[in-house]
Amino acid sequence: METVVSGIRPTGNLHLGNYYGALQNFVKMQNDFRCFFFIADYHSLTTHPTPLDLHGNVKQVLAEYLACGIDPDKATLFIQSDLPEVAELSLLLSMNAYVGELERTTSFKEKIRQQPDNINVGLLSYPVLMAADIIIHKANKVPVGKDQEQHLEMTRRFARRFNNMYNVEYFPEPDAFNFGENLIKIPGLDGTGKMGKSEGNGLFLIDDDNTIRKKVMRAVTDTGPTIPNQEMTEPVKNLFYLLKIVSKPDTVEYFLSQYNNCTIRYGDLKKQLAEDIIQIIKPIRERITEIKENEQYIKSVVRKGFEKAHESASKTIKEVREIIGIKKFF
Ligand code: TRP
Repeated sequence: METVVSGIRPTGNLHLGNYYGALQNFVKMQNDFRCFFFIADYHSLTTHPTPLDLHGNVKQVLAEYLACGIDPDKATLFIQSDLPEVAELSLLLSMNAYVGELERTTSFKEKIRQQPDNINVGLLSYPVLMAADIIIHKANKVPVGKDQEQHLEMTRRFARRFNNMYNVEYFPEPDAFNFGENLIKIPGLDGTGKMGKSEGNGLFLIDDDNTIRKKVMRAVTDTGPTIPNQEMTEPVKNLFYLLKIVSKPDTVEYFLSQYNNCTIRYGDLKKQLAEDIIQIIKPIRERITEIKENEQYIKSVVRKGFEKAHESASKTIKEVREIIGIKKFF
């Protein structure tokens, strides 16, 4: 069975785009692959969260993963920092990672621009730690978005370099998991591009009904069609795209024909869209709250995840130490 690894940084809450784009696919994958999903808390330290925020965010993302249907009996769901083996492998890999190639990474160059006062070594070695996350479980497939493809390319390079260096066929070179047709990209509410975390653009899984209504009612549109079957502008196309994902086919049909004969009132469309989004988000939101209140359950999930992930990681580290020539004297 092929192995899948994916991590998410605990920064902020999951939105509808994460839900359709990533989580629904994770939920499907857990039936067909040996899956490791984890919360990348080490990685989030590059932006210096406070201790209280860090722990709260980890718990939040964990509850959100579970509420979306990640099944801890099928997938291994764990916290990155529970596995010191990951930090060790990252250190070992860093000996074969070159400063020049790390400095040329797009994400690093972006971070330098975003936080010029905090260009820490963790930012530079971010791809090394990510490679360790992935190859410690000898992953074959990594479901990530476009923005992570370069990191994955570096993971392959570091794996290959390790194999060449020690003349072994030890680490597989993992590929990006390509969902093809199944990849749903959720547009944002501000009329441009995909859903993100920025104000007025994203619908979060923890948003209450009224927040959802307010956000949807404020979504960008245009002045309305004036000729029958007029081509849609980007913001309106986006609203119809959302409608197609969350609403019944006849609802979509209904508003589409209104659009095409120029009688549409965007306010009506938005009202319907908001109610249909609420139907999706509300049960998830309620499960998130339930899970967060159940400390016992969270504890048992995290412990089980740790045990499974640790078994896999410690086996790799033991073998890697042997390959490198780290031998104990006692
Ligand atoms: N870098 C990823 C992101 O920003 C998070 C991540 C860390 C990750 N380690 C990983 C993703 C390993 C996939 C596999 O989203």
